[in-house]
Amino acid sequence: MERVKAWDKFFVPNISSETIEKSVKECAKLINSRYDGATNESAPIFVSILNGAFMFTSDLLKEITFPCKLSFIKVSSYDGLQSEGKLKEIIGINSDDVEGRDVIIVDDIIDTGLTMLEIKRQIMALGAKSVAVTAFLYKSNAAASELVLDFPCIITDKNEFVIGYGLDYNEIGRNLKEIYILEE
Ligand code: IMP
Ligand code: MG
Repeated sequence: MERVKAWDKFFVPNISSETIEKSVKECAKLINSRYDGATNESAPIFVSILNGAFMFTSDLLKEITFPCKLSFIKVSSYDGLQSEGKLKEIIGINSDDVEGRDVIIVDDIIDTGLTMLEIKRQIMALGAKSVAVTAFLYKSNAAASELVLDFPCIITDKNEFVIGYGLDYNEIGRNLKEIYILEE
């Protein structure tokens, strides 16, 4: 089996590009049906979280059929294999972007859900009309949190660390086409 090395760890293929492609299309369908009546004036804004969500955002937006806006934000919350759930700051958004507008936050992965709860809270505070959440991967860990994932893409019962399709291990692995999981 083809395995890849990132720093001191080995990772093995876990989710294929075919599955990814199919799941992203299904996820876009859910979003399309929810914002069906949007116009140029009322265009919902996708707020994508860098760096991890870049690949998912790119594939997802190609499947969106209603008028929409796009913005990228950056947050710092996490280092290495551990998600601390502590959000320092959101960079790249202000109330002009979201006030009175439907917002769809796009992230790579929801693990504990703590990061997303905090981002959601901050975007609501900027005066968004509504805030929905989509994430490429949803670890079942997150089921314990109060976060509602409005538009799931792939839900995994494996809570191990993964890389690829935007996700990294200390910044390595984002370029991989498929999802790789930490070798047992
Ligand atoms: P949460 O607050 O626990 O939901 O953490 C979410 C953030 O932690 C994600 O946006 C990722 O940046 C990072 N993260 C969590 N699990 C993984 C993983 O398995 N691989 C890579 N990054 C992860
Ligand atoms: Mg991330």
